[in-house]
Amino acid sequence: MAGILEGKKILVAGVTMDSSIGFSVARVAQEQGATVLISNFGRALGITRRIAGRLPAQAPVLELDVTDDEHLARLPELIGEHVDSLDGVVHSIAYGNPETLLGGKFLSGPWPDVAQAVQVSAYSLASLTNACLPLMSTGGSVVGLTFDATVAWPAYDWMGVAKAGLESCSRYLARDLGPRGIRVNLVSAGPLRTLAAKAIPGFDELEANWDSRSPLGWDNTDQEPTARAVVALLSDFFPATTGEIVHVDGGYHAMGA
Ligand SMILES: NC(=O)c1ccc[n+]([C@@H]2O[C@H](COP(=O)([O-])OP(=O)(O)OC[C@H]3O[C@@H](n4cnc5c(N)ncnc54)[C@H](O)[C@@H]3O)[C@@H](O)[C@H]2O)c1
Repeated sequence: MAGILEGKKILVAGVTMDSSIGFSVARVAQEQGATVLISNFGRALGITRRIAGRLPAQAPVLELDVTDDEHLARLPELIGEHVDSLDGVVHSIAYGNPETLLGGKFLSGPWPDVAQAVQVSAYSLASLTNACLPLMSTGGSVVGLTFDATVAWPAYDWMGVAKAGLESCSRYLARDLGPRGIRVNLVSAGPLRTLAAKAIPGFDELEANWDSRSPLGWDNTDQEPTARAVVALLSDFFPATTGEIVHVDGGYHAMGA
């Protein structure tokens, strides 16, 4: 049977380790027939190049720091060396200084660090999408990753504010890009033990009880359910869905206690 991404060309931005949600998205997308390009930034790029070898098929690794205007400007050219267009873009990127913004530092979070967190984690959904638009002239799908920003969590602090920005950003992008046939959606994942998560002081508090309170249970080491949802949203099986947030959290968000 043909995969649900057969013939599609997808950029997955934000792959460092094989624990990265982006890595699982790239793997599942390849398994479903997509041609996949992955990206990362800075010193982590070397790790990404090594980790890319663990994907089922070869995937070009591009350099992209979403805070660097020159990187964004040259992105279509870099992508163009491998594929002539894109059908999907996955934004799997977030950063907030764990020392100053996370783990109970909410009241003292300094603005320059907050500004960085918002730029990397929220604004970049718009700047990355915008950079990829020249390659999406026939429409497509943009998918980002959030952590439910409708409530306050232990430890998550300013990253929660950045995620609220991301969630709003995706709705405005959905509004402006719908007429071009581009859908923009988010997957709201439960806690997963990735590099970014382990850097959050107090992450264990956040994930405590997730498994027992979720009607479906929750395995915080299994990125596959989240990756599958991202791939489904990239596919043609959500043709009339945009500005949506799909929870992949074992059902935790729907329970009162
Ligand atoms: N792990 C969780 O519990 C969880 C839950 C819900 C949502 N998410 C979200 O999933 C996404 C992926 O995170 P992850 O958990 O796989 O962690 P991860 O650390 O593996 O991935 C985050 C990626 O962002 C990249 N990045 C950071 N700053 C960047 C910049 N300036 N330019 C380009 N790339 C940059 C990192 O290099 C890394 O590859 C994030 O948006 C995260 O908030 C994670």
